Amino acid sequence: MTVLATSFFQDENFIKVCYIVAFGLFIYGLMGLTGPRTAVRGNKIAAVGMALAVIVTLLTPGIGNWGLIALGVVIGTVVGVPAARNVKMTAVPQMVALFNGVGGGAVALIAWVEFRESGGFDGFALYIVIASMFAAVIGSISFWGSNIAFGKLQELLPSKPISLGPLQQLINLLLLLIAVGLSVLICAGGSSELLIIGVLVSAGLLGIFVVLPIGGADMPVVISLLNALTGLSAAATGIALDNTALIVAGMIVGASGTILTRQMAEAMNRTIPSIVAGGFGGEVAAVAGATGADGGTVRSTTAADAAIQMAYARLVVVVPGYGMAVAQAQHAVRELSQMLEAKGVEVKFAIHPVAGRMPGHMNVLLAEADVPYEQLKEMDDINGEFSRTQVSLVIGANDVTNPDARKKTDSPIFGMPILNVDESESVIVLKRSMASGFAGIENPLFTNPKTAMLFGDAKASVGAITEELKAL
Ligand code: TAP
Repeated sequence: MTVLATSFFQDENFIKVCYIVAFGLFIYGLMGLTGPRTAVRGNKIAAVGMALAVIVTLLTPGIGNWGLIALGVVIGTVVGVPAARNVKMTAVPQMVALFNGVGGGAVALIAWVEFRESGGFDGFALYIVIASMFAAVIGSISFWGSNIAFGKLQELLPSKPISLGPLQQLINLLLLLIAVGLSVLICAGGSSELLIIGVLVSAGLLGIFVVLPIGGADMPVVISLLNALTGLSAAATGIALDNTALIVAGMIVGASGTILTRQMAEAMNRTIPSIVAGGFGGEVAAVAGATGADGGTVRSTTAADAAIQMAYARLVVVVPGYGMAVAQAQHAVRELSQMLEAKGVEVKFAIHPVAGRMPGHMNVLLAEADVPYEQLKEMDDINGEFSRTQVSLVIGANDVTNPDARKKTDSPIFGMPILNVDESESVIVLKRSMASGFAGIENPLFTNPKTAMLFGDAKASVGAITEELKAL
């Protein structure tokens, strides 16, 4: 009976059917991720699909050394579960970069192990060798590039561009040629282990050198691109190992990552090759004092004055940014918005596509605080409304409101579409100091005569304004 049950579970067709169910769950789950209301459920559905795919893969006959598999599962669980549970919302991008890098690294290592065990892919069909080498090159680029991205986002490395100067492009091209050249030698039958080590090292250096010069506001696009690359390399490994689950899951990540990368690059008014080749990014500007770099004067205000100004406005547009996430001010912001509405003020929220530190960061925070979804306006929908706005309330946003992006051609964020807050009648900016944002550059909005700064932690400042409004 046990033998019968075991052989049923290990039946190739049963395993295939389970894989199909798992893909269905991935795709259904992914559909849920298209809206904030269904995102959590979508994530859970996709996770069930992934669990099914993993269990079924472990049932495959001759899967390997169970002791090692158990050890891997234990290490992965011990490291992954607390990391994912304890990560702060503001640190999710770094974690995504790190987990993504691990995926790329695993794929590159699989190619190396296959190479060793088969004596240089001896007797393998050419298409399998090509797929394996694709996985080795892209996986290695993705692993090392993601680690650099992690270092930059975690501020272990400077977020400004680090470049080798004019030689950078040439060195990158050379590294690419070495990686591809050595891969071709392996495909032609080369079996020396030095060849694959050379591929992994040159591709790894390429990953490092491509990401190091990227700075400022372009990191989100790069992380998304690395994510897509990891997906594609996993799909290639799926071809090499004849594992349909890996092919489908890898292609889903590759395709959705590519679409996201394109959309984000468009939102930043960049092309993907220009980001990868050019290494956009900013010099870190000195922290300004009472005057901005342009010599403009900084005007500060109080919670009481801000409350009066907003209470008599017809339309207030709230512009949230990374600082709102750091301060965890979203609930206080919802209270303030409700208080203003109770006083007859129309309130809208302007959402920039790269505000915060991950795609949809502001939407997620505001949805968590029960801000009605209808009040959240995408950049293209709200930009035309600033000219009829009495008060723009900027809460911990900086780069996404920087007018230099429009006309200062030497600015690292030149060309990036921004929220046109400076077109409103007045602007109140809530932040703690005159420090720069992620791109590390000055923001002339802060010295604009229309702007008043309310210095302090965003949650405390929003709370103070709400209290003043109550007293009015
Ligand atoms: P930033 O330009 O990074 O500015 C955030 C501002 O928040 C800072 O100037 C900081 O000033 C302020 N702040 C920090 N903690 C605060 C607190 N507790 N209370 C009040 N203010 C606080 O943010 P943004 O405008 O949202 O732009 C996002 C940037 O991150 C863009 O450059 C974007 O490209 C980049 N990025 C985005 C993503 C994604 S996908 N969204 C991923 C990686 C990078 P003080 O220190 O003076 O308070």
